[in-house]
Amino acid sequence: MSTVALHQKYRPQTIAELVEQPYIKTALTNAVKYLQIAPAYLFTGSRGTGKTSTARIFAKSLNCLNTKKPTDQPCGICQSCRSIETSNSLDVSEIDAASNNGVDDARALIERSTLAPVAGRYRIFILDECHCLTGNAFNALLKCIEEPPPHVVFILCTTELHKVLPTIVSRCQVFNFRTLSIQAIVQHLGIVADAESISIDEEALTAIARLSDGGLRDALQLLGQVSLLDEDITANHVMEIAGGVTETELMSILQAISTNNTFNLLQVARLLVDSGKTPKLILSNLLQTYRDLLIIKSAPKEQSLLTGCVSYAQLKVLANHWNFETLNLSLAELQKAENYLRYTVNAAVWLEVCLLNLIPSLLPVSATKTLTVKPVNDKGHDSKLLPAVAANTANLAQIWLSVMDTAKPSNQKLLAHANLVKLQGDKAILEVTPAYLNKFESSKEAIAKMLQRATQSQQPMTVLIKTANKSSNGRVKA
Ligand SMILES: Nc1ncnc2c1ncn2[C@@H]1O[C@H](COP(=O)(O)OP(=O)(O)OP(=O)(O)O)[C@@H](O)[C@H]1O
Ligand SMILES: [Mg+2]
Ligand SMILES: [Zn+2]
Repeated sequence: MSTVALHQKYRPQTIAELVEQPYIKTALTNAVKYLQIAPAYLFTGSRGTGKTSTARIFAKSLNCLNTKKPTDQPCGICQSCRSIETSNSLDVSEIDAASNNGVDDARALIERSTLAPVAGRYRIFILDECHCLTGNAFNALLKCIEEPPPHVVFILCTTELHKVLPTIVSRCQVFNFRTLSIQAIVQHLGIVADAESISIDEEALTAIARLSDGGLRDALQLLGQVSLLDEDITANHVMEIAGGVTETELMSILQAISTNNTFNLLQVARLLVDSGKTPKLILSNLLQTYRDLLIIKSAPKEQSLLTGCVSYAQLKVLANHWNFETLNLSLAELQKAENYLRYTVNAAVWLEVCLLNLIPSLLPVSATKTLTVKPVNDKGHDSKLLPAVAANTANLAQIWLSVMDTAKPSNQKLLAHANLVKLQGDKAILEVTPAYLNKFESSKEAIAKMLQRATQSQQPMTVLIKTANKSSNGRVKA
């Protein structure tokens, strides 16, 4: 196997080889064909969508020595084309703005721009990661970018358009590189896998595509990584290597939910968290799967809309367990929990509460109904199996969740720093992140009222605030 990374080996060499980006391909091809070359271009868009590759291709198109004028099909073998590929061209300077971002660098560049090209037709400056330039450097470049000498072309590339001075943006032709579709990535990965004799199935390719957020570099990198396994690669391998939740793991969770098996549910969740998967990751995978289930319910034929890693066949069987409304409510639960997870210090407990809330018999009847606190095992399922501590923690956490639900959004952030650890008669004990101790002390009475409402208690409550020790796994020790 070659030592060059796949994403480097398969860098597109002509505009035609660029995957997707149809408008950019047409516009740049026509610019070259009709010799309408702008003094400055700005390529923007998310990671690994083809900006730097396109900048190099365009430079080759402008300077290829095998034709008399710029061509949309650079030969790739002339001295100019080859030197651009290896970043050794005297006429094409690829400048990493991340490490050459000062005003002196900009001045040096302006000076070089006055020199005539050595071998090609144009002197081209590719300013990669141009958002890293300082304000002064941008300002120094302004004039030059607006009216460069006729033989100079600037190509600025950035993932962060908002950090580029608006005065610069308005002087450039801006091309927006879109994230690539899952289908396009799968197709391209398939071609690369064939060429490299990597044995990988379609579902695994789809899993890679979904994990790479529309960027082809990440996708090729992951393909390269899984190709090192000595077996036929499946979606499960991909998820294992990427540190995601595997299809098998997601299926265990969904099966436990569909059979009301609280014990299994909590056990799977604990195993996942103990194996290093964060509650956030688990929830977001589950959210995707529920979204897929909802799609299967509402549009059974639209397989291409599925984005999670559980296969269509498995989802279809599972979808029979739930009706549309239950799935909808579950999605709402997951979304709510995802929000809370952002602030909380005890993510593992929230995960458990959220999972318990997905059991259909425990789902709120209607999303608009006022929240009341339900005992976790109100149907008696597996109550003997459920560890007492888990039931208790989960129950208290659920009460706290409903307190947070009734709070103003601005207060929810603070409340997420607390953990209800005891509730006996009219006394409640809250463990809070030490930094927020004073804030909680001063809001004790308001919290007491909220707790009274959440528990529908007749008598006023008193709240005791303690600081929590954070344990290594992120859970607050009770
Ligand atoms: N549209 C595309 N068509 C074909 N290959 C692509 C495309 N986009 C990315 N790639 C692959 O990903 C690699 C990286 O692409 P490139 O360097 O052009 O991305 P970029 O948009 O400049 O990313 P970054 O913002 O991270 O610099 C390429 O070598 C190529 O293998
Ligand atoms: Mg780049
Ligand atoms: Zn050439």
